[in-house]
Amino acid sequence: MRADKLLIRNASQVVTCSGFAAKKGKAMSDIGIINDGAVATLNGLITHVGTTKDVLSCINEEEYTVIDATGKALLPGFVDSHTHFVFGGYREEEFSWRLRGDSYMSIMERGGGIVNTMKATRESSYDDLWERGYGHLVKMMEMGVTTVEGKSGYGLDLETELMQLRVMKDIDEKHPVDIVSTFLGAHAIPPEYKGRADEYINYVIETVLPAVAKEKLAGFCDVFCEKDVFSVKQSERLLRVAQELGMKLKLHADEIVTFGGAELAVELNAISADHLLQVSDEGIRQLADSNTVATLLPLTAFSLRESYARGRKMIDAGCAVALATDLNPGSCFSCSIPLLIALACIYMELTPEEAVTALTINGAAAVGRTDTIGSIDVGKKADMILLRYPSYKFLPYHIGMNIVEATIKNGKTYHS
Ligand code: NIG
Ligand code: FE
Repeated sequence: MRADKLLIRNASQVVTCSGFAAKKGKAMSDIGIINDGAVATLNGLITHVGTTKDVLSCINEEEYTVIDATGKALLPGFVDSHTHFVFGGYREEEFSWRLRGDSYMSIMERGGGIVNTMKATRESSYDDLWERGYGHLVKMMEMGVTTVEGKSGYGLDLETELMQLRVMKDIDEKHPVDIVSTFLGAHAIPPEYKGRADEYINYVIETVLPAVAKEKLAGFCDVFCEKDVFSVKQSERLLRVAQELGMKLKLHADEIVTFGGAELAVELNAISADHLLQVSDEGIRQLADSNTVATLLPLTAFSLRESYARGRKMIDAGCAVALATDLNPGSCFSCSIPLLIALACIYMELTPEEAVTALTINGAAAVGRTDTIGSIDVGKKADMILLRYPSYKFLPYHIGMNIVEATIKNGKTYHS
């Protein structure tokens, strides 16, 4: 028996989600089920996938640490491709104002919202941000997440944006979950630039972005492209510079009003357009014709009491849809994968198969990593989850309950 050799055998289902690219439209239903399946791993990578009988005929079981998965389903680890998990302070007061009827944008106009968290983040120490960020990852991993995207955007100045990104880099080195970092310097206009959005964008382009690129702190650049935040033109200006610096692009698009964010994401060949609650029919058509993943965040719509993004329509139109939590202290203080799946299936009308694809291979596509994660394929990282139940169909059915018994990260098992 060797610690670096793991065999999971007799799984009632191995759901492979096999593939090396985003799945679009109908293809999102192909999740590749192997009944009575097994997976073998070596040094953190998948070496064999098949029926238990077939895998056992290829290996010497005695060399492996063995997990008997009778009555349990095995899936790829979840990829949470949109979060803001490093931040200072909380905004519980704002949440109770929203329950009373105040809108997210009206709170933002009064100086609350993102700028509120910016103040708390600027006042936080590196160690505070680190400890709280690490704590979120621990919870996420218990719910089966093996890769997380995390954004800056609560510093809105050089020093604090860099601090947020350095914290993520450091946590990535210490916690088993992989972190993909995104620079979101254009998340809001900080008070010192109030009414001067263009000048703030200049500052980000000239001062912050080059420092982020120089230290190689983020592979992605994102903008909150929204009415009364950053216009399509301002977003485009910043994103094109980021692209020239070798960064891949993401966009907070069409969240509060129909704004042309999806169309901009497609034009710039962004890797994903996110939120999309108010995307136009034309925006959906363009997304379907593009390589841009439509990342939907139903926990945010739920928390803001907004109508859900039109997930069913997007998949029927041929889009590649991913699902993510959007964990942040304002619009969505939750990283609950179980609730996310339930909302996606019940209110956005995704099938259980589509929800699984959206959280695995399509999540991997939304962070540009389909070559190494997102499916149970030979050669990929051994990032998997074992459910307490025999079928992936229990994920939406057992509403809001964490049914992940163990998360396997790089071939190592962590029990929930
Ligand atoms: O994705 N909409 C913009 N950004 C975040 C919310 C950030 C916050 O409220 O702190 C989002 O919902
Ligand atoms: Fe977000």
